Amino acid sequence: MFHNILTILVITSCGGRAFAGLLDLFNVNTDYNAAFVMDSIFDVMSNDTKYLLSGDSTNPIETDVTFLCGNRNAPNLTQTVINDAGLSSKLVTSKPIVFITHGWLDNGNKIWIRSMAADYLKFVDTNVCIVNWSNLCLYGYALAANHTFRVGAYLSSFITYLNRQGIPLNKVTLVGHSLGAHISGHAGRYLGGKIAAIYGLDPAGPLFTLPFDVGPAKRLDSSDAQYVQMIITSRCTTGVCVGDGHENFYPTGGFVPQPNCVLPLFGNSETFEPLTCSHAHACTLFRMALNPQNVFSGKKCSSYSLYLLELCLFNKSTKMGIYTSRVGGDFYLITSMFEPYT
Ligand SMILES: *[C@@H]1O[C@H](CO)[C@@H](O)[C@H](O)[C@H]1NC(C)=O
Ligand SMILES: *[C@@H]1O[C@H](CO)[C@@H](O)[C@H](O)[C@H]1NC(C)=O
Ligand SMILES: *[C@@H]1O[C@H](CO)[C@@H](O)[C@H](O)[C@H]1NC(C)=O
Ligand SMILES: *[C@@H]1O[C@H](CO)[C@@H](O)[C@H](O)[C@H]1NC(C)=O
Ligand SMILES: *[C@@H]1O[C@H](CO)[C@@H](O)[C@H](O)[C@H]1NC(C)=O
Repeated sequence: MFHNILTILVITSCGGRAFAGLLDLFNVNTDYNAAFVMDSIFDVMSNDTKYLLSGDSTNPIETDVTFLCGNRNAPNLTQTVINDAGLSSKLVTSKPIVFITHGWLDNGNKIWIRSMAADYLKFVDTNVCIVNWSNLCLYGYALAANHTFRVGAYLSSFITYLNRQGIPLNKVTLVGHSLGAHISGHAGRYLGGKIAAIYGLDPAGPLFTLPFDVGPAKRLDSSDAQYVQMIITSRCTTGVCVGDGHENFYPTGGFVPQPNCVLPLFGNSETFEPLTCSHAHACTLFRMALNPQNVFSGKKCSSYSLYLLELCLFNKSTKMGIYTSRVGGDFYLITSMFEPYT
């Protein structure tokens, strides 16, 4: 069993059809373990799980989760804490605020997350904070997934603190990739669904909707904020199968591989492998869409097949990302292989 799964993963994760193999695992086996599958993918891709942390963290949450914040007047993001004596030099409480949260095995210093924060400041006059939970995400997948609840709770405490400093909840937006999408969902839920918006960038499927749905109270869904958008780019593999936001966007059907992740991979692919490349592509698309000149128009449709056949029941379109007109529903679009991918 062990070796079979690894063999399948080796074969499939080295090919353009990574999703087909994983889909087989998710659908056919009755005794597989989604966390094991995730760890195996990591094994296969990195050749090494040795640097994963072991045992559980006993650190206080404020050392395991840090917030790096800034705004147009203070573009160098600096660590900001609850009851921060220097808050006014880091955040402008009269402006809205956006939190960007990374996923599994990632951290707050990656180019993609720094670029997203910088682009937010460039195109939107807002405060921005990166949620760095690297100390709690460098674990095997199951424990990292479990940590999303803790991190979400702490993020909600930090937002409650900022709320008391004068930032209303309806000016708070959360953006999260993969497990970071569920952290955003937990934080939104702990705040009673009152924050303005959550953008879930390819929310993680395993242990949330695969092998079974843990239910909306334990994952990102539309009740977690006034408006929830999901951008799905590795459907039913690392990502969820079906979006559960007010609006769900499925670039190229939401499937692996995304157009820039097709083998052979070129310089504009996010990683060296189609599945993780596609999973990360949601972040790139969201960042591109922060620039109002890059319009990703999604067409409302009941399925990708009907979209391809031009048999959509609705005559409605809207923009993917923050400039959506909030029509509501599922939207499909074809993206390009090359930046800005419109
Ligand atoms: C994995 O390990 C093998 C044997 O040590 C090595 O030849 C190979 O280059 C490694 N692959 C990666 C992707 O690091
Ligand atoms: C931001 O940091 C860079 C490099 O550390 C420094 O050169 C620059 O002056 C800083 N900018 C501001 C506005 O503090
Ligand atoms: C992110 O958190 C880790 C672990 O707490 C820390 O070592 C690292 O310096 C932090 N990164 C940034 C950019 O603050
Ligand atoms: C997951 O986290 C919760 C609370 O954060 C804890 O009670 C539970 O034991 C954890 N489960 C596992 C399997 O780690
Ligand atoms: C769809 O809507 C557009 C403008 O909203 C309109 O011009 C067009 O005729 C409509 N098409 C159909 C088939 O209803």
